[in-house]
Amino acid sequence: MYLAFARFLHLRIAFTNGHRITPSPSCRRIRGSRGIFPGYSQIAVDERHDAAVVAEVLKAPAESFTPATTLAPRKRVLDMFRLDGRVAVITGGPRGLGYPMAEGLCAAGLSGIAILDLQSDLGESACEQLYSEYGVSARFYRLDVRDEGAVQNAMESIVRDLGKIDILILSAGVADHVHAENYSPAKFHRVIDINLNASFVCAQAAGKHMIAAGRGGSIIFIGSMSGSIVSICLQRV
Ligand SMILES: NC(=O)c1ccc[n+]([C@@H]2O[C@H](COP(=O)([O-])OP(=O)(O)OC[C@H]3O[C@@H](n4cnc5c(N)ncnc54)[C@H](O)[C@@H]3O)[C@@H](O)[C@H]2O)c1
Repeated sequence: MYLAFARFLHLRIAFTNGHRITPSPSCRRIRGSRGIFPGYSQIAVDERHDAAVVAEVLKAPAESFTPATTLAPRKRVLDMFRLDGRVAVITGGPRGLGYPMAEGLCAAGLSGIAILDLQSDLGESACEQLYSEYGVSARFYRLDVRDEGAVQNAMESIVRDLGKIDILILSAGVADHVHAENYSPAKFHRVIDINLNASFVCAQAAGKHMIAAGRGGSIIFIGSMSGSIVSICLQRV
């Protein structure tokens, strides 16, 4: 029972993320229990109170545990999401869903970000804001995402201006909140052209540069639960 609890404790502590500790040489009681707690001297703890828990179970003073500064700290899980040195392109980046996503990417360590949008004022001020808050080199390119030529020119300019394209987020889009039976086909075609067809055009144009660079890349399409359910103020019939 005691052994089982000790194993449980060891597992619990091993899952915390932080420094490792070793019992101090002066703690005879703990050194004497090495056979019962194999590997206890490599226990990982995050906070001082974890050391206190170990000490309580082992009936030893908490001071018996000291940080083992010679051991490397464990890798933090958020480090796996760092984007240091990457360059991102985001359509519809100045506002709505796009801007907070741009902020998130910048906070993760981008070296450059390009915003593509129709609205110049919003785009320019978003780039200024991203540069002043995150120090990321931010450029705005005004275009209509439905314009294939403009999209291809913009991707070439981005590679020239910022060096490469590692990430593309397709957040430019529109939504019409009308009943399907009253929806004009022209408006429906416009939504499909901007949200779907233009996303393909942008992904293809950026994808060519990613393939040529040979480093891979990430292309993120934005969908919506409204594609499968009626979610906004519309009556179901
Ligand atoms: N906001 C939400 O909660 C939500 C949830 C799911 C999906 N969506 C979808 O995500 C997309 C973006 O939503 P949002 O809330 O960020 O919208 P938004 O209107 O706040 O922002 C969209 C941006 O896209 C730009 N844009 C629109 N048409 C363009 C074009 N032809 N060329 C270039 N830029 C163009 C606009 O200028 C604007 O800056 C939409 O398709 C929307 O339906 C939004």
